[in-house]
Amino acid sequence: MPLDIVVGAQWGDEGKGRVVDLLAARADFVARFNGGDNAGHTVTVAGQTFKLHLIPSGVIHPEPVGVIGNGVVLSPEILLQEMETLRAAGVVINPQRLRISHAAHLITPAHRALDKAQEAARGQAAIGTTLRGIGPAYTSKVTRHGIRAESMLDQEIFAEAIKTHVEEVNQQLIALYGAMPLDPTAVAAEYAGYAQQLAPYIGDVSSVLSCALGRGQRVLAEGAQGTLLDLDHGTYPFVTSSNPTAPGALVGLGLGVGCVGRIIGVTKAFQTRVGAGPFPTELFGETAGRLRGSGNNPWDEYGTTTGRPRRVGWLDLVLLRYAVRINGLTELVLTKLDILTGLHPLRLGIAYQRKGQPYLELPLGPGDLSGFEPVYENLPGWDEDVQAIRKLVDLPVGARAYIRKIEELCNVPVRLISVGPERDQVVEG
Ligand code: IMP
Repeated sequence: MPLDIVVGAQWGDEGKGRVVDLLAARADFVARFNGGDNAGHTVTVAGQTFKLHLIPSGVIHPEPVGVIGNGVVLSPEILLQEMETLRAAGVVINPQRLRISHAAHLITPAHRALDKAQEAARGQAAIGTTLRGIGPAYTSKVTRHGIRAESMLDQEIFAEAIKTHVEEVNQQLIALYGAMPLDPTAVAAEYAGYAQQLAPYIGDVSSVLSCALGRGQRVLAEGAQGTLLDLDHGTYPFVTSSNPTAPGALVGLGLGVGCVGRIIGVTKAFQTRVGAGPFPTELFGETAGRLRGSGNNPWDEYGTTTGRPRRVGWLDLVLLRYAVRINGLTELVLTKLDILTGLHPLRLGIAYQRKGQPYLELPLGPGDLSGFEPVYENLPGWDEDVQAIRKLVDLPVGARAYIRKIEELCNVPVRLISVGPERDQVVEG
């Protein structure tokens, strides 16, 4: 059985949690491979809304084992909080149901302090990070100063590692940013408590997953963030510090390339982004307000992790085609189609132009979007409520035309369409 990979095809927040939740019903393992608690996955089941940042959203199902791969950076306190929240909601969480890679790196309060200090120092050029310490934790990893989950298995070594790490970061906080240092002993004591609780969950998940695939079991890789936030392939420098794209799943779980099956890209029916950075099809004013929602519902366009209002705009097919290529997508899932009901005309960004010259692809990828103006195609849209529809043929003609245009211009099938926030509000393409 193959490894199926779900990735965001935009700037994150595409509704991947929903899709993973649907596919997880048939999976034996659901694995996070990148990012940390900067992610926010909202899943609504029978009116109960779960907001998960670290634990793979698929564990809400009774069967699949949740896995946190080596590519993840993990905040122990957030993880423990989520474990408790899920248990309180009746979800079984124990070392048989949740596995943490020994090679995943830890986020500490020192990383968070550094994230905050670095963002403040960037001033106008701030990235708008989630302030969860993601960038600094990956920096520690890459510079080989990181602390891996496996060090939690030896209390003495762990305490020393945490103290040394906090002392090192303190030097930067003071010298470079004039920020307050942290107490290394207090952080070590706090983390000793976390280590004791998490030790039974730590192991070689690469081996667990490889053996599972060998036995014919089904593994679902759950990407966090999205293609355009990829450190290498996104709108650099307005990106996150990991690889949310499909190849990141292999590196971030320790699996070989031969096992990949479906590569599913999730895209909203429009475009959103949170944080700074270019956004060619961005909208302001009334239409933006319609797309964003009032903020009274959990699925309105406000960050799950930060609560920030998301920037919104028309769907950008130049960037979506790019996501198809970079990830090797075999199919698309289109979410929040219902939000477009009643918008006339509906606009699709189908190309760009710069200095009078048309572009179907970006010459230097999305890192260089300056000066590119979107070229739109207008579609008539539809007025009928689509939330109760479950069959493609029952969708309004305007909705089907919109979906067909996306398939045609991206050259990949749309396999699933979500038409409302509930688990069953989906249409098969
Ligand atoms: P960081 O990942 O906290 O370093 O933030 C870097 C950029 O990625 C910022 O623009 C964040 O808003 C964005 N970002 C990080 N995680 C997510 C996510 O899960 N959804 C959407 N944007 C995110």
